Amino acid sequence: MKIELIPLQQHGDERGLLIALEEEHNIPFPIKRVYYMFDTLQGIRRGFHAHKKTRQLAIAIKGSCSFLFDDGKEKKNIILNDPAQGLMIEPYVWHEMYDFSDDCILMVLADDVYDESDYIRNYQDFISRVIL
Ligand code: TYD
Repeated sequence: MKIELIPLQQHGDERGLLIALEEEHNIPFPIKRVYYMFDTLQGIRRGFHAHKKTRQLAIAIKGSCSFLFDDGKEKKNIILNDPAQGLMIEPYVWHEMYDFSDDCILMVLADDVYDESDYIRNYQDFISRVIL
């Protein structure tokens, strides 16, 4: 499984830093939805699903958190702790998020609106769909 981290260009000057996100430019899909998680309690693990179609990009715009990715063949963990780095979450990849820092703001861009029918929330169901 290839983990894709997208570097986001920082525009820095003596005032500070700025990052711009543009669909089909540095974000490789049309942005239909943006959501963010914050004030996540210590020890919380969330996610526990895969998507059928939706492509997403996660950015820890403040603080840090970790991702577990599982494509049914292998599992990989990655720490997100840089607002200049976007992590692609592709369809049919089971993902869980954990180890949120107290100050973590995890922003996610998605190429579609929220639709519960796009979710696979049962791990056995997920495995049966990805294993040939
Ligand atoms: P949930 O899917 O449980 O979050 P996660 O999988 O990241 O742990 O979402 C929490 C609640 O928020 C749930 O009631 C669905 C709702 N929600 C929306 O209404 N729109 C959205 O875009 C998302 C991601 C969640």
